[in-house]
Amino acid sequence: MYGDVNISGAKNAAVAIIPATLLVDGKCVLENVPNISDVKISCNILEKLGAKIEWLSEHSISVDTSHISSTTAPFDMTSKFRASYYLIGSLLSRCGEAEVGLPGGCNLGARPIDQHIKGFEALGADVNVSQGKISAKADRLVGTSIYMDTVSVGATINVMLASVLAEGTTTIDNAAKEPHVVDVANFLNTMGADIRGAGTDVIKITGVEKLKGDATYSIVPDQIEAGTFMLAAIASKGDITIHNCIPKHLDCLTAKILEIGGHVEEGDDSLRIWCDSRPTKTNVKTAPYPGFPTDLQPQIGVVLSVADGTSIINEGIWESRFQYTAELNKMGANITAQGKTAVFEGVDFLSGAPVYASDLRAGAALIIAGIIANGKTELYNLGHIDRGYENIEEKFRKLGANIKRVKE
Ligand code: UD1
Repeated sequence: MYGDVNISGAKNAAVAIIPATLLVDGKCVLENVPNISDVKISCNILEKLGAKIEWLSEHSISVDTSHISSTTAPFDMTSKFRASYYLIGSLLSRCGEAEVGLPGGCNLGARPIDQHIKGFEALGADVNVSQGKISAKADRLVGTSIYMDTVSVGATINVMLASVLAEGTTTIDNAAKEPHVVDVANFLNTMGADIRGAGTDVIKITGVEKLKGDATYSIVPDQIEAGTFMLAAIASKGDITIHNCIPKHLDCLTAKILEIGGHVEEGDDSLRIWCDSRPTKTNVKTAPYPGFPTDLQPQIGVVLSVADGTSIINEGIWESRFQYTAELNKMGANITAQGKTAVFEGVDFLSGAPVYASDLRAGAALIIAGIIANGKTELYNLGHIDRGYENIEEKFRKLGANIKRVKE
């Protein structure tokens, strides 16, 4: 694959910042919003709660949360994606109560939310989980120290949301450091919050009386989408320049790409990635940021399935993230996955086959596999991919891939 590709705004930042607008008593404008189905559902849910949302352009929305008429999020909508849990922190903070269906999202094994609940309770909320929904209520939320038992992006952001308007100071220890954690903090600070330390493992939030709104915020570029195209360049032995990205967010992947024989040239907000030989074997262990992102694990799995030699991937975050390997094996790969470890015996080439996307990133990986395979690949379950990638087939087509959507 050859050419240039523009990266959209980050899905995982957008799906947190949209519910975070509930903390603003007024109007704000979000730019660089990715046009993906998880964003559309987030917007629809906010509208059901009383917010007014207007698309100002393809990637810009105005959100007016002056009037919130309900604290119950429609369960059929919240079950469609994972980030619906951010409605709990946001509604609790703004209205003192929230009722939200248990979140859905990719099936990656158990996805507990005990650390979110622990945080809300520490701030003074009563939290109940029953009949598939979470209810939280608090007369007042009071800042405190919270030590996360595990590094969790969702729990870090949710506790941040719940504590922005609380009395006094909240400290989150062992916080997640992902770029979207920083982005949510930057958004809230732009609206008048007092959050320090986002991007380190200690975040301090001093409660303020209200967030003022009337500001514009641009969402950070999607690190995972950028990484997906970087790995597509390596898998296809191509030469791709990625625009609108933050190279620093991809340091870990850049190092891996250099290690397996690829080349990377960094610009201010661009990366050129190319590869002129067969990638070599390596081992990968996924870990919280700045470690190797679990959300790029299936995509590097495709590269390693055709690399020279035997590679091992250790999944350090999710219980069940190797479902895509069975699909790659249908295409001629030689992968043995057991529990959180998979062994990739590199094969010379993949061959097209009908395959199924088990989740969002698995779907992106199988697109890369289909592009580099000999013959035709049919990919099913595109709904998973549309949740998180904007115009993915068009972006790949522009890079020279022979790909088309046959049916919605
Ligand atoms: C977010 C991302 C997801 C990514 C993941 C890890 C969003 C919407 N999704 O998911 O794409 O794969 O980060 O980078 O941003 N855990 C607990 N208790 C909790 C919360 C989490 O034990 O209360 C565990 C999880 O089981 C997992 C680990 O902590 O093993 C990390 O999970 P977390 O960072 O919370 O993932 P999500 O926020 O759900």
